[in-house]
Amino acid sequence: MEIVELKKGIYWVGAIDWNVRDFHGYSTSLGTTYNAYLILDEKNVLVDTVKAPFYSEMLRRISEIIDPSKINAVVSNHVEMDHSGSLPQILERIGDPIVITSERGRKGLEKHYKRPMNFKVVKTGDTFSIGKRTLTFVEAPMLHWPDSMFTYVNEERILLPNDAFGQHIATSQRFEDEVNDDVMRHARKYFANILWPLAPLILKKIDEVAKMGIPIDMIGPSHGLIWRKNPGRIIEAYVNWSQGKVGEKILVVYDTMWGSTETLAKAILKGLMEEKVEARLLHLRSNHRSDIIEEMLEAKAILLGSPTLNNGMFPTMGDFLTYMKGLKPNGKIFGLFGSHGWGGGALREMRRILEQEKLEVWEKEISVQYIPDSEEIKKAIEFGKEFAKKVKGIT
Ligand code: FEO
Repeated sequence: MEIVELKKGIYWVGAIDWNVRDFHGYSTSLGTTYNAYLILDEKNVLVDTVKAPFYSEMLRRISEIIDPSKINAVVSNHVEMDHSGSLPQILERIGDPIVITSERGRKGLEKHYKRPMNFKVVKTGDTFSIGKRTLTFVEAPMLHWPDSMFTYVNEERILLPNDAFGQHIATSQRFEDEVNDDVMRHARKYFANILWPLAPLILKKIDEVAKMGIPIDMIGPSHGLIWRKNPGRIIEAYVNWSQGKVGEKILVVYDTMWGSTETLAKAILKGLMEEKVEARLLHLRSNHRSDIIEEMLEAKAILLGSPTLNNGMFPTMGDFLTYMKGLKPNGKIFGLFGSHGWGGGALREMRRILEQEKLEVWEKEISVQYIPDSEEIKKAIEFGKEFAKKVKGIT
């Protein structure tokens, strides 16, 4: 196995999951990695572990560098099992080293693994000298679990922030400067689907870390590539995404039963395009919910279209709105359209969900019975033009 060194004596010892395609509802079309880091010093420290089925891979990587029994401490930055899953096995192998974690991390690990561990509980600003180097800990509650914590290697200026700044991508390369700019797209999808609802906390945390005056040369997240060449690039992107910086992009997200809602979607899209706004048509059964969410992050507005089925919205729209509302896409403008046979109900149900979430929904909507005629298609084009003007701030 190739040994990956971040800086002298600091190694990546994680695992590559080439085959995972669904990460609790998020499509990982290129897989992911579980990153763990080994720091050699007078005290040898393992920072995080890997998902349980990948324990042997991590152990092999560690064993190529040192005898695992020489590890003195394991830092658990985050309890979620993609990072702590191999903790019980590595503790058995090493023989009861110190487990450094936050107070909530301690409680979470006890609840998950129900075995005694030699805990050292730390809080923000606490340090742990390992010889020539010192580790500093920064609690990051709700980024994205209550227990989440960052570890900073002072002398090397390396930040190990666990899930923050990650990407779900499996590659043979380990550093972002070894791949093309697609890494930013993967980072954007990761932010949109995992961290978006935490945007205010992210801005506060970035500000807090900046005030601590800790220079950052490298960021080693727990998924994907390590930010080596320009870590400022991903920090700046997180600030922009958290601040909700968007262009005038409008999405048309829809499903269709017999083609009527799709006819409307395409007519509305024509109206948007005539107003020269950037627009994308996204069929709910051709695009994974997590890919649509990624598109939403940088969109200003979203038009949602659904036929009525049994007096309600189409099941795929229900799935999408359930997933979307948890991500709290505040600051977007929503519009609604659809088709029905007799009583209708889809738009009513969609509006109720959006308004319950306190999202801005345009009062105008368009719904046609059965199949849209040429007049209704013209109205849909006008609906799209009017919506584009509203989004551009003209009306
Ligand atoms: Fe919150 Fe990568 O686990």
